[in-house]
Amino acid sequence: MSKRLSRSSNIWLTGASSGIGEAVAHDLAKHGHNVIVTGRRLEALETLASHYPGKMVSAAADTTSNADLESIKGTLNHFGDLDMAILNAGTCEYLDVANYDSQIIEANMVTNVVGTARSLDIALPALRATRAKGKPATLVIVSSSAWWFPFARAEGYGASKAALTYFAQALRADLAAEGIDVVVVSPGFVKTPLTDRNDFPMPFIISSEDAATRIRTGLEKGKSEIAFPRRFTWTLKALGALPQALIDRMAASMARNENS
Ligand SMILES: NC(=O)c1ccc[n+]([C@@H]2O[C@H](COP(=O)([O-])OP(=O)(O)OC[C@H]3O[C@@H](n4cnc5c(N)ncnc54)[C@H](OP(=O)(O)O)[C@@H]3O)[C@@H](O)[C@H]2O)c1
Repeated sequence: MSKRLSRSSNIWLTGASSGIGEAVAHDLAKHGHNVIVTGRRLEALETLASHYPGKMVSAAADTTSNADLESIKGTLNHFGDLDMAILNAGTCEYLDVANYDSQIIEANMVTNVVGTARSLDIALPALRATRAKGKPATLVIVSSSAWWFPFARAEGYGASKAALTYFAQALRADLAAEGIDVVVVSPGFVKTPLTDRNDFPMPFIISSEDAATRIRTGLEKGKSEIAFPRRFTWTLKALGALPQALIDRMAASMARNENS
């Protein structure tokens, strides 16, 4: 039986000012946890934290900025030892291949990969200090299942989430000896301001509240991989098991529909 989140825990959550992160912040606070919430928009964070006086504190920072992260480092211990860091801040920029622009690839990589890696500069020492006291410590990285299939226009986003998943799983190997758990969350489509911009069908889309519940219960169960909803992730896995030539034909046909 997992001990994770079995008692009131102190959690740092990035990307908390909207969407999945905001829903996770509400869910965790309602389940008795203390949350340090990060994003760039201070006002949104303070509005969120005002619902849970004494249980939630805002720590505004751009996670791609070393200086911003350094400035909030002390706040990670606001409630005492840090038990968990949930690195969820992310973006999704789609490529218009007719006007190919490498800045789209870079924007995804910088926020999703470099921003997460930089967040660890301050999260890891805090989690290590907790572990040194014999307590459990967990690092959670919110990736995506989007990269399991070569979706049209998702070159930058998919590449960033593939890189992020590899980063997290290799970290899991390295941190195992220290007893620090690394969890990868791979959502399918979730209704948030990020996906509200999408102009294509999003099969099996779920609400951000539903996503938050699935993330918390997956963590409570001690899972190291949390992927949902199953109908979407299993479909992608089944597609991924097809011969590459077939995958390429399906992806190209979907791309023609997307780009026409
Ligand atoms: N929605 C989906 O269908 C879906 C599916 C799979 C994975 N995901 C992943 O889930 C995570 C949350 O996405 P979402 O759908 O909830 O999107 P969202 O509503 O746009 O939320 C993104 C969050 O990330 C924060 N953020 C973005 N860039 C940041 C930066 N440089 N520094 C600090 N915070 C930053 C935003 O806050 P500020 O604007 O205040 O900085 C916001 O709180 C992302 O990693 C996304 O890739 C989403």
